[in-house]
Amino acid sequence: MSVLPEQSESVALRFPTGFVWGAATASFQVEGSTTADGRVESIWDEFCRRPGAVHNGDTGEPAADHYRRYVDDVALMRSLGLGAYRFSVAWPRMADLGFYDRLVDELLENGIAPWATLYHWDLPQSLEEKGGWANRDTAYRFAEYASTVVSRLGDRVAGWLTLNEPWCSAFAGYASGRHAPGVQSGSAAIAAVHHLLLGHGLAMQEIRAHAPNTPAGITLNLFPVHPATGKPADLDAARRIDGLQNRIFTAPVLQGEYPADLLADLAPYGLPELIHDGDLETISAPIDLLGVNYYRAYLVEAGGEPESRSEWVGAEDVRFLTSGHPRTEMDWEVQPEGLTELLVSLNEQSPGLPMYITENGAAYPDTLTDDGQIRDTDRITFLDGHLRASHAAIEQGVDLRGYFCWTLMDNLEWAAGYAKRFGLVHIDFATQQRTLKESARWYAAVIERNGLPA
Ligand code: NOJ
Repeated sequence: MSVLPEQSESVALRFPTGFVWGAATASFQVEGSTTADGRVESIWDEFCRRPGAVHNGDTGEPAADHYRRYVDDVALMRSLGLGAYRFSVAWPRMADLGFYDRLVDELLENGIAPWATLYHWDLPQSLEEKGGWANRDTAYRFAEYASTVVSRLGDRVAGWLTLNEPWCSAFAGYASGRHAPGVQSGSAAIAAVHHLLLGHGLAMQEIRAHAPNTPAGITLNLFPVHPATGKPADLDAARRIDGLQNRIFTAPVLQGEYPADLLADLAPYGLPELIHDGDLETISAPIDLLGVNYYRAYLVEAGGEPESRSEWVGAEDVRFLTSGHPRTEMDWEVQPEGLTELLVSLNEQSPGLPMYITENGAAYPDTLTDDGQIRDTDRITFLDGHLRASHAAIEQGVDLRGYFCWTLMDNLEWAAGYAKRFGLVHIDFATQQRTLKESARWYAAVIERNGLPA
């Protein structure tokens, strides 16, 4: 079945041979079947039940029913020509990993490389009851879980990612509480940062032990941060936000240290005492690749009224400004040039580091027309701009090896519920009917050409 548009345009921007073209999802967002086959409760099941926590009271049911419809979904991926599928393994399904076994086999039979993320936010609720990521022990439990998963799937998975966006797990989960587990404590958030990083390092050891030849790394959500003016207070605001968003993760993983300014800023929240001898060696063990999730850039200034539910621990006074770009349905500004800037600057910090864009995409109010089409031209413009920005980074020497669109199909956008649609494939959540959006056909044409039209 070909889903390609009719016209054959010439290719203006060609990507390197072997460039990986993929799409990504995450277990809780797509699977449904939250009580099947012994799955235990996760922090997101619990959070979704809290009144007002998730838009419209939405929950992990039915999601995209991917747990039961994965065969159809893999066929859809094949029809788009995807070279890789990035999914996450649900820790709450640790007792029975049969679904992932079948998914991986189905992908391989269809010529699609399975890329697995070990943790995309669905912590077992039983561990949260012991303190969750604020408890150091969770890092060791994560290593045990990683060992189980990699022993089972390591012979077939093409790429491993330990954590997805630990910033969200730590700061949205434990500082502002807008994500599960909904805790509001600066010191818990900082403890979560360190324990997530430790968990990453310990999980890397398990991946090396059980899948020594498979490329592995971590996925971070990174943002270029710009000050509104050159005033010292604004420069300092940008330094602090860059520290909390980016450097608090990149420096330990890539350089084996927390930056001195962060250790000082976060001393009131206990960061220095969290670090045990040997932790930074564990955290900074070499990775084969850095996964970069990119959505937008930040423009900041100092001097706002401190927000009580801020996720910016110790920087609650910083104000986030808009810079006049068009916005997506999430109200996020569309800034493709920030992606080039980000990738080039990462390559300057860690020359030659192989990188993959493990997420990039946008929510728009996709509506089905009477003839059953979804003409999501805004999404096509978004993706086109970001692929051009990726290509520009490659031309500037970045070893960018692949691009995973967020996301394969509409799903549960966490606290924003099912209302925000990021998919290439439209899902009718009442009937579970799948419909390719125009962007899916456009992406299929990019993949087919390994490049963008002129
Ligand atoms: C980041 C997360 O990894 C993913 O789960 C989420 O849906 C997208 N970005 C969009 O917000």
